[in-house]
Amino acid sequence: MSTEKLDAALVAELKSLEEEGRAKPPERVITGYIPPKDERGPRYTLAGVDGEFIRLNSNSYLSLSNHSALISAADEATHACGVGPGAVRFIDGTFSYHKKLEERIAAFVGKPAAKIFNSAYTSNCGLALTIGNRKTHWIGDQLNHNSIIRGMRISGVPSNHKGIFAHNDMGDLRRCFAEVADDIERVVVIFDGIFSMRGDFAPIDRIIEICKENENRFRDGVITVVDDSHGIGAYGDTGRGTPEHAGAVPDIIIGTFGKAFGVNGGFIAASEMVVEAVRQKADTYIYTNPLSVADCAAATKALDICDSEEGLELLANLKNRTTQFREGLVDLGLESIPGPHPVVPLMVRDTTKTRRMVEHLFNKGVLVVGLTFPVVPRGDESIRFQINAAHTRSDIEYVLACLAEKN
Ligand SMILES: Cc1ncc(COP(=O)(O)O)c(C=O)c1O
Repeated sequence: MSTEKLDAALVAELKSLEEEGRAKPPERVITGYIPPKDERGPRYTLAGVDGEFIRLNSNSYLSLSNHSALISAADEATHACGVGPGAVRFIDGTFSYHKKLEERIAAFVGKPAAKIFNSAYTSNCGLALTIGNRKTHWIGDQLNHNSIIRGMRISGVPSNHKGIFAHNDMGDLRRCFAEVADDIERVVVIFDGIFSMRGDFAPIDRIIEICKENENRFRDGVITVVDDSHGIGAYGDTGRGTPEHAGAVPDIIIGTFGKAFGVNGGFIAASEMVVEAVRQKADTYIYTNPLSVADCAAATKALDICDSEEGLELLANLKNRTTQFREGLVDLGLESIPGPHPVVPLMVRDTTKTRRMVEHLFNKGVLVVGLTFPVVPRGDESIRFQINAAHTRSDIEYVLACLAEKN
């Protein structure tokens, strides 16, 4: 037995991905982290490439991944309870660190309870498995993250039980409601808080208003769900995310510990009943080992930092550097999508030019991601810059100077 025949078939399948422009490039390998010093923020080294790189393609918005307090918390938890849980949650794989993180994140987002997952991806899949049934209709934004869409597929949502509204278009959301069949018992409206390719955000207050208008049509009501993976920790006056920014809180909040909080893992925060149902029904929670205690301890510490003076300072620096970068793009006459989020897209609107600019930045020691068709529609080719709290004023000046050279 061998995979020879399968390998041959896969060659053909991967070739067609490449022809469609959907193949992923080879992965670069980070070999080292160089801590910030004076006017220089953190730098990274890469396998097989000379020099040091500044990352503007990291989701670690508060730059907590290398924070000494997180590392110590992970270290202490590991020494206390080991590197792995030994089993799934319901077979004595639940440690005090898991419970503590669940209580801490629920309190942070202002919900009665929460369950943690290995990632936001598996959280979305778990939620769909928990609250979806044959009488559920799902409504989502056209630009929702892959994990929301995959969750709906895994839970078997039929095509006549879902509606997709044009990005942030409230008129179109109303159309989706008008199309819901009368025998539907519950409607779930689900959307990203921050849209990660664009850095813009969902108008949560207006979405909730429209949902309220429809609430009484359905036996189990209308349930609003935000996946705020790019907002939580990085957005809003105290880092509570897009609900804080928009002044309106959905019924269920999904998020990640792997972006602003700098660690790993995801969560669902909601009512006690929804969270207990997640524990009973979400296969992506039940049948897989949980996060390590090290991850939990580090994520709990990240939340403590967010709620401290230090956290507010990090948030302030994140905002200041984001403003500096956004204003710099305007001064260079470059186009972006306005907004306060640290995801700042530079709209290049041309594939070859996008690739050349990404290469130029790489040669100058700047890591960014270029987005071309079919990841984004033709004409929306762009470079995604992500600012973080450890970037310094001179880091941003340097990146803008690199852009000016190619402009
Ligand atoms: C909206 C959204 N949800 C979920 C995820 C996945 O997060 P995680 O890495 O925790 O699975 C991402 C990451 O890109 C995201 O942007």
